[in-house]
Amino acid sequence: MFRNVAIVGATGAVGQIMRQLLEERNFQAGTFRFIASARSTGQQISFRDQKYTIEELTKDCFAGSDLVIASTPDDVAAEYLPAAVEAGCRVIDESGYWRMKEGVALVIPEVNPQDALDATGIIASPNCSTTQMVLALKPLHDAAVVKRVIVSTYQATSGAGVQGTSDLFDGSKSYLSGDDYSYKAFAHPIAFNCIPQIGSEKADGYTSEELKMVYETRKILGDESIQVNPTCVRVPVANCHSESITVETEKPLSPGEARELFESFPGIQVVDNLQDGQYPLPSTCDGSDEVFIGRIRKDISHPNGISFWCVSDNLRKGAATNAVQIAELLAKHL
Ligand SMILES: NC(=O)c1ccc[n+]([C@@H]2O[C@H](COP(=O)([O-])OP(=O)(O)OC[C@H]3O[C@@H](n4cnc5c(N)ncnc54)[C@H](OP(=O)(O)O)[C@@H]3O)[C@@H](O)[C@H]2O)c1
Repeated sequence: MFRNVAIVGATGAVGQIMRQLLEERNFQAGTFRFIASARSTGQQISFRDQKYTIEELTKDCFAGSDLVIASTPDDVAAEYLPAAVEAGCRVIDESGYWRMKEGVALVIPEVNPQDALDATGIIASPNCSTTQMVLALKPLHDAAVVKRVIVSTYQATSGAGVQGTSDLFDGSKSYLSGDDYSYKAFAHPIAFNCIPQIGSEKADGYTSEELKMVYETRKILGDESIQVNPTCVRVPVANCHSESITVETEKPLSPGEARELFESFPGIQVVDNLQDGQYPLPSTCDGSDEVFIGRIRKDISHPNGISFWCVSDNLRKGAATNAVQIAELLAKHL
C-alpha cells in the first residue's frame, strides 16, 4: 500500500467527491494529506472520522508522500506536478494540462489499464465527457472497429466546478424572483438556458472541450484513425453529463449485439426499455460510478450505424472514481 497519499485540490468539486470515494471504497494507505490553495489553508475537513487541516500547495510540499491525486485548474497542475514527480511520487492528474503530452499515460482502468502500469511519470485521467463515451465505445471497437462517432453532449454545471453549481442554483433563484444575477462560471445565463460553448474557440469552429473528445479518444483507444465529430453543450442540470452518440463501425452490429457487448463490459450498465419509459437520466445516475446506456437503436441513416444515449456522473466516473480506480490499480502492483 502507499505510505502517504496527498489529495491536491481537496476543497474543489472533484476533490470533495474524491474524499468521499476514498472512504466509501476503503482505500488503504498509511496516512493522508489534503492540500489546496492559500485561500483554504488552515481550514479543517473531516475524513474517516478525523479532522485534517488543509495544507498549502507549494513545490516543496510533496516530500514524504508517495502518491499524489490532483484535481486543480490546468495552470496549477502545469506548475506544481513536475515537482511531485521529481519528489518520487506517483502522480494522477485530473486536469486537462498533461493529458495529450508525450510520455503521459491517459487512462481509463477498464479500457487501457496497462498504460497506467507502464507509466513512469504523470498519469492523466481523461476529460469527463471523453471518459463516459470511450468506455461505451471500447466494447464496440473491440468487436466491430469504430470508424466514426457523432456525439452531442448535455453537460451538467458541476463540470465547471464548485462555482458552476453555485451559478445554477443562485442564477435559478434570481431568475424566478426577477432579480439580477452575475454569473461567474459561465459567459451566459445557465438558468433555463443551454449554452453551445464549453471551453475556448479552437480550429475550424470547434471548442477546446470538443477537441479534447477527438484527441483523447484516439490516444486512449490507441487508434489515430477514429473520426469524432462532437458538439458540447452546457445545460441547466446540476450533475451528470448526458451524451447522444452515433457510431459507425467497420463491421455491422445489430442493436441486440451492441446491447450484449455493453452488458458484458465492466463499468457499463444498460437501462433500455423505451416502451416502459426506462432509460438513463441524470437524476437517477447521480451518485453512481457506472456509465449508463439506453435508447440503443439502429442508425436508420446508415447500414453500419448504432445510436444510443449515455449518462454518467461527471464528478465520479468522469473524474474522482476514475482517478481512485487508477490509484487502486497502482496499489495492487506496488
Ligand atoms: N468538475 C468536473 O466534472 C471535472 C471532471 C473531470 C476533470 N475535471 C478537472 O478537475 C480539475 C478540478 O475541477 P473542479 O471541478 O474540482 O474545480 P473546482 O471546484 O474549481 O476546484 C478547484 C480546486 O483546485 C484548487 N486550486 C485552485 N487554484 C489553486 C492554486 N493556485 N493552488 C492550489 N490549489 C488550487 C482549489 O482550492 P481552493 O478551494 O483553495 O481554491 C480547489 O480545491 C480541473 O482541472 C477540471 O478541469 C473536472
